[in-house]
Amino acid sequence: MTSYEAHFKVWRGDAEGGDLRDYQVEVNDGEVVLDIVHRLQATQAPDLAVRWNCKAGKCGSCSAEVNGRPRLMCMTRMSVFTRDETVTVTPMRTFPVVRDLVTDVSLNYTKAREVPSFVPPEGVAPGEYRMAQVDVERSQEFRKCIECFLCQNTCHVVRDHDENKPAFSGPRFLMRIAELDMHPLDAAADHGLTRATSAQDDHGLGYCNITKCCTEVCPEQIKITDNALIPLKERAADRKYDPLVWLGSRIRRR
Ligand code: SF4
Ligand code: F3S
Ligand code: FES
Repeated sequence: MTSYEAHFKVWRGDAEGGDLRDYQVEVNDGEVVLDIVHRLQATQAPDLAVRWNCKAGKCGSCSAEVNGRPRLMCMTRMSVFTRDETVTVTPMRTFPVVRDLVTDVSLNYTKAREVPSFVPPEGVAPGEYRMAQVDVERSQEFRKCIECFLCQNTCHVVRDHDENKPAFSGPRFLMRIAELDMHPLDAAADHGLTRATSAQDDHGLGYCNITKCCTEVCPEQIKITDNALIPLKERAADRKYDPLVWLGSRIRRR
């Protein structure tokens, strides 16, 4: 096993402010950034705050920015950096800092609660639901989400624009609306909720200008923009501008 000393800069501070601190930390073969942060805690900075849980890329807890790029620390191998490269670790920028690398992501839970849940079809009991495999596969991709909120952190609509946060649900939750909108058994429309229209009117879909930064950082490689947001935009536009769709929806509602 080979090891070397890496130069790390880690943001230390709290809601009042903070700065980058320099550390020299041992790195061994096969280690990831989270290993180094843990070694830092164990050897030099016992009060360093960091959130993590699974160390397997599945809990979504260890999100941070490594050399400016939003990443899961447990899935970022040290081998992607050269040995003389400084590795800078900072908290996610879009959410308020609690302390050091830990941010307050509660905005995301507020946004989650604002999306009306699946509406079961009438007259079909749980266990009797039947869906075509193609419909199952379409939404299965979105179910891979581990709620790391890296996409929410990256989207430029809110990254440096706190003022947009109240009106914009962000890619993760617009994707949830898209998933429900594609669900063949979701009966929300029978209760007057057209999900694509609501995404536009109530969840800020119009703020998204398809930059695809959310898709680029998703550790689950979910095609958020191509498979969720663009189809949702198309359906919202259909409902708004296609007179036949509009007429059909009026007749169905009677
Ligand atoms: Fe994370 Fe991807 Fe889910 Fe966004 S969609 S929260 S980036 S797993
Ligand atoms: Fe933001 Fe993703 Fe749209 S980064 S602008 S939600 S494509
Ligand atoms: Fe669970 Fe990194 S510790 S995703």
